[in-house]
Amino acid sequence: MLLPAAHLLPLLLVIGAREAVPSAQSPPHGCYVAEEAGERTFRCSRAGLSAVPPGIPNDTRKLYLDANRLASVPAGAFQHLAILEELDLSHNVLAHLSGAAFQGLAGTLRHLDLSANQLASVPVEAFMGLQIQVNLSANPWHCDCALQEVLRQVRLAPGTGTGIVCGSGARPDLVGQEFLLLAREEELCGMGHGGAQRSTDVALLVTMGGWVTLVVAYLAHYVWQNRDESRHPLKRAPVLPVRSEDSSTVSTVL
Ligand SMILES: *[C@@H]1O[C@H](CO)[C@@H](O)[C@H](O)[C@H]1NC(C)=O
Ligand SMILES: *[C@@H]1O[C@H](CO)[C@@H](O)[C@H](O)[C@H]1NC(C)=O
Repeated sequence: MLLPAAHLLPLLLVIGAREAVPSAQSPPHGCYVAEEAGERTFRCSRAGLSAVPPGIPNDTRKLYLDANRLASVPAGAFQHLAILEELDLSHNVLAHLSGAAFQGLAGTLRHLDLSANQLASVPVEAFMGLQIQVNLSANPWHCDCALQEVLRQVRLAPGTGTGIVCGSGARPDLVGQEFLLLAREEELCGMGHGGAQRSTDVALLVTMGGWVTLVVAYLAHYVWQNRDESRHPLKRAPVLPVRSEDSSTVSTVL
């Protein structure tokens, strides 16, 4: 009876380990795998997540992480999902995206939903090389040059343009305005509106202008003085002969 008992402990450990492996890879609570229109889909909507969960199967084509509490997307968060086509991150509290948030998805990702978050800005690098349609509605956008550059990188999902509205962090006169209308009227990458390079150029121009003005003023002063000096003898010349006692010296000078 002793011998089987001694064998039981390792057996229990093996069973424990076997159970631990699948549970680590099974979907987090509130998430499930589904087959939707023949596409492997991973749904994690309203699952109370505060981070992108581990264990998303690498054959996922559609990933729903909407209506959670995600505040940021770190670099390479989805890079193991080699065939991901659709990513829904809407209705979270996203305020920050890494410039490499969608790294590894360049060949496959087609649809990205970032709507209804807390994004005031997103790094344009995050969208480089992606051929995506994106929903950027319902975020407190800063409405600056950076956003204009992002919109040159992506295509907006149909009908979502009017949903891009400037939030409270934007320039006071822009708050509440539709970004696309605004960008049509105003060159936001021009001077003073976040175009850091431009404002540096302007500062340089003003400084150079200042120097040029100084140099010109000095030259004008110099020329004026010289002209005065060269005139003085000429001015005096007609006056001097009146003084009879000096007439001899004047004639020698002349
Ligand atoms: C998923 O991972 C497995 C094991 O690492 C690999 O064999 C398979 O090709 C991967 N599938 C995709 C779609 O990348
Ligand atoms: C874009 O996002 C808004 C807000 O979440 C939503 O109402 C709208 O249906 C979305 N549109 C598309 C085309 O995804």
